[in-house]
Amino acid sequence: MGRILELSRDGQLMSRIIIGGWEHDLHPLLPWGHRVIVITDSSIARRYRRLINQYEHIIIGKGEKIKTLATVEQLHRELIERGANRQTFLLGIGGGIVTDITGFVASTFMRGVRFGFVSTTLLGQVDASVGGKNGVNLDGYKNMIGCFNQPEFVLCDVGMLRTLSDRQFRAGLAELIKTGLLGNRVLFEMVEALPFEELRRDPLLMADLILMAVKIKAGIVERDERESGERRKLNLGHTLAHAIEKCSRKMLHGEAVAVGCVVMARLSAGMGLMPEREAARIEAAFARMGFDLKAPAPIDKMVAALRKDKKSAGDQIHIVLPTAIGRCEVRSVMFDWLDERLREVVK
Ligand SMILES: NC(=O)c1ccc[n+]([C@@H]2O[C@H](COP(=O)([O-])OP(=O)(O)OC[C@H]3O[C@@H](n4cnc5c(N)ncnc54)[C@H](O)[C@@H]3O)[C@@H](O)[C@H]2O)c1
Ligand SMILES: [Zn+2]
Repeated sequence: MGRILELSRDGQLMSRIIIGGWEHDLHPLLPWGHRVIVITDSSIARRYRRLINQYEHIIIGKGEKIKTLATVEQLHRELIERGANRQTFLLGIGGGIVTDITGFVASTFMRGVRFGFVSTTLLGQVDASVGGKNGVNLDGYKNMIGCFNQPEFVLCDVGMLRTLSDRQFRAGLAELIKTGLLGNRVLFEMVEALPFEELRRDPLLMADLILMAVKIKAGIVERDERESGERRKLNLGHTLAHAIEKCSRKMLHGEAVAVGCVVMARLSAGMGLMPEREAARIEAAFARMGFDLKAPAPIDKMVAALRKDKKSAGDQIHIVLPTAIGRCEVRSVMFDWLDERLREVVK
């Protein structure tokens, strides 16, 4: 079995995260004697036939456009048609889209069935599949409909990262750098010191980095599963990223997070919370990984989208500001104030 991390609440095991490979690690994780139905996307189904064909499976399309209630309904219907019941175990195999949808479908089908994930993208492994947030978008607003519910296990298959495109791999690196930035200076510095190509070709190195990121995320989730306080830190860069994604289809989620983190670092330095040179170092680390750090949409459009962000309550909004590399704080700020500051720091 690969390396295991346990997520608990009040001494009770909530979920296990395994950094390993499906060939050795998946079978023992599945509940013995239960029917398993796999939900995956068309690209994984094509690339990993040997894995997918071992199980009864349902293939959904791919991309953010399918992360909708219509897909959820279609999956519920398909499960009913196939005679699935409360003993059926749902296994999501894929990136963040597949795991977000599978978690929500499993949590709502017959009031909830058991489920687990094989996470196949770097973004999924360091972020999306860990922490128990499941859900879909509505009218272009990200993750508007969803629930908190932990998968029994998340198997992060580092070998499968080999078939990811450079662009998707880089998008995952944004969440990895973000996690170091908000909670572990050593993780940030390790990624900062390594060339993109080396990260790409070394699964063992990636396994170490993913484990470090998952430990930070799991620790935060254990302390604040429902995001009433500390968990908000994980949204570093995301307030702006969601607005970017709403306004422009040019950027992947991770690419938008990279822009969001850099803008928050600039904002923080401008407020005197962090030295300018730390902010410059953060920007340089993202730039060296090959991110385009220019906002892809006009600031007016992004600010309008931000106002509708679900995290904004009235005229206040929560933002996450890095105060040093490896540390950050959550602040509630007036929306008008943020609007003005963003106009100064968004390039
Ligand atoms: N629930 C959470 O806490 C959370 C956190 C962060 C992000 N997310 C969500 O995650 C989603 C993004 O996830 P993602 O970046 O993994 O996107 P994704 O699931 O769309 O995967 C990206 C692309 O890579 C393909 N792919 C997946 N694994 C592959 C592999 N091993 N080899 C080759 N191709 C592969 C997919 O088919 C897809 O085309 C967003 O919807 C975001 O909102 C959720
Ligand atoms: Zn994210």
